[in-house]
Amino acid sequence: MKFMYVFTIGCQMNISDADLFYRLLAPLGYMPGDSPEASDLVIVNTCAIRAKAEDKAFSFIGRLQAIKARKPGFRVGVAGCVAQQEGAKILTRAPYVDFIFGTHAIWRLPEIVTLVVQEGRRIVDVDMANELPERDGSSDGFTGAVSDFVTIMRGCDNFCTYCVVPYVRGREMSRAPEAIVEEVSRKVRAGAREITLLGQNVNSYGKKEGLPDFSELLRRVADVEGLHRLRFATSHPKDLSDDLIHAFATIPKLCSHLHLPVQSGSSAVLSRMNRKYSREHYLERIDRLRDVCPEMALGTDIIVGFPGESPEDFMNTLSLVEKVRYDSLFAFAYSDRPNARAAGFTDKVPEKIKKERLKILLDLQDGITREKNEACVGRVEEILVEGKNIRTLAPGAIHDPVAGERVTGRTEGNRLVHADPGENSSDMVGQCIRVCIDRALGHSLWGTRVA
Ligand code: SAH
Ligand code: SF4
Ligand code: F3S
Repeated sequence: MKFMYVFTIGCQMNISDADLFYRLLAPLGYMPGDSPEASDLVIVNTCAIRAKAEDKAFSFIGRLQAIKARKPGFRVGVAGCVAQQEGAKILTRAPYVDFIFGTHAIWRLPEIVTLVVQEGRRIVDVDMANELPERDGSSDGFTGAVSDFVTIMRGCDNFCTYCVVPYVRGREMSRAPEAIVEEVSRKVRAGAREITLLGQNVNSYGKKEGLPDFSELLRRVADVEGLHRLRFATSHPKDLSDDLIHAFATIPKLCSHLHLPVQSGSSAVLSRMNRKYSREHYLERIDRLRDVCPEMALGTDIIVGFPGESPEDFMNTLSLVEKVRYDSLFAFAYSDRPNARAAGFTDKVPEKIKKERLKILLDLQDGITREKNEACVGRVEEILVEGKNIRTLAPGAIHDPVAGERVTGRTEGNRLVHADPGENSSDMVGQCIRVCIDRALGHSLWGTRVA
């Protein structure tokens, strides 16, 4: 028996691609291994979005050298966005790497591994393609996860000036709706009850190819029997149409939760980022969303310290966050990326100031998250149960209110909830249950099942 191990860094798209690597190599006899040491083949699935992510990839690749030295036949592959960006250059930093395959070479993985393992070849495949393979991911052997992901499009044409994605993932390409519906149906048959549709900018789904638009795709996917919940990520504020906003009110399975990255609250910064919307446009879209769906949970991404970001620009970001009151927020210090235009902008913000701004922003959001979580206490929420566990009493604790049998799931607004199932929870995974929220703890909620 042969084992493989994929170490993934980066976004949901990369996590979903890792799943594809396992499924593509299963026909060659590879089973998922428990660790790199216990495997014959390790693939490092990398992310290039910020310098830190790239460093993390190289440090993991570095750790594999020792295993390679003592384990004959052990093979190392590098995949994902750093593989696409650096190609053969990775071999100068890590000469023990056996194969490198880029984001468009994923479907050639079985041939690549065969050449590497059987013929001892070293392969670098970072060719880019103009179209997606017909069956992007549709095959058997799904994991059976209650909440699963389906890629609907790849690449990005937006060229935000800070971003490496258009260079490492290539041009935007959408899959046919029939292939997407088929993959969703297979995953539902394998046990999925919630599907998140993935793409860098899902609102422009199908435009280039003249396919049905994204709202229509949502309707078709929502028709899949057995599916309870539908989500998507990520959407671009410039393309958030009234039609899509309306979908939240008219498609019952579509969760009232939207991740809508704003990046900055300053129109001047947004313009230099090439985001193609203003602060005012963004806030107008949020108002419209909340008119149509007052319960809408909102998430965002923000970059602090973009070149030229003045104290006033940053204050505008803080005031936007205070205005919108997000349910979740990811904040990042700006990082120069190869090829991205902003790397050539002159007025860089010093690291120390970026760190200070990041802390101020995260503290502001922490307060908002806490208040929002506390406001949930006493409410009854529906959660989709994704798993269960037994939380043991902490050593020495006389009473731990959260110990005991627990089921875990998320609310429609994507809040994590741990709940006392109240009875035998054996068949609860994959079911929607109603939970009365008793306590708010840090980033999660705790509750008790109600009838
Ligand atoms: N396609 C998605 C985002 C993909 S990258 C979108 O358009 O929203 C995820 C997040 O990483 C971005 O939203 C941005 O906030 C952050 N990011 C991207 N490039 C960055 C950079 N050079 N430095 C810091 N953060 C960056
Ligand atoms: Fe990057 Fe902008 Fe494309 Fe998102 S929309 S992936 S931030 S270029
Ligand atoms: Fe990273 Fe590539 Fe995703 S750069 S964020 S893994 S598309």
